[in-house]
Amino acid sequence: MRFGMKSLAIFAVAAFAANGAYAAGDAALGQKVFKKCAACHKVGDKARNAVGPVLNDVIGRTAGTYEGYKYSKYLKKAGEDGLVWSEEEVVKWLENPTKYLRARLGDSKARSKMSYKLKKQADRENVAAYLATLSK
Ligand code: HEC
Repeated sequence: MRFGMKSLAIFAVAAFAANGAYAAGDAALGQKVFKKCAACHKVGDKARNAVGPVLNDVIGRTAGTYEGYKYSKYLKKAGEDGLVWSEEEVVKWLENPTKYLRARLGDSKARSKMSYKLKKQADRENVAAYLATLSK
């Protein structure tokens, strides 16, 4: 079988859609964005829980489960309900953690302990890509 440019383009679109239509960010730029997170989150070999939980291996981790960190009951509940952090979910989370939990849990009283919001979509995608480099 031979494919023209048109069918190749269709294949590309289909492959993109199959991946959940998620465009990954730039990890190198994300490392710089992470400076904003570092006030509360530690990463690397000697990382300890601080204001927020350690973010090593956060991509692929069930939400609210880093050992020794005292999460809000709402984020713990989201994890118990099956939330596993992917880059895509972290991007949504960072826009507004409390709003994210309210929508996710269907509970208008839910509130995250993380009050920080990252406004720019590109920053959110890049920092999520950076976190993926710290995850197996
Ligand atoms: C002012 C402190 C603060 C800043 C700044 C902050 N966070 Fe958080 N973060 C928290 C706290 C507190 C929690 C725990 C939330 C809860 O229990 O509801 C949290 C939780 C998280 C979680 C969920 C982790 C898990 O184990 O389930 C992720 C992912 C996360 N933060 C990413 C980020 C990223 C990326 C940034 C930077 C763009 C950032 N945070 C900036 C305080 C902060």
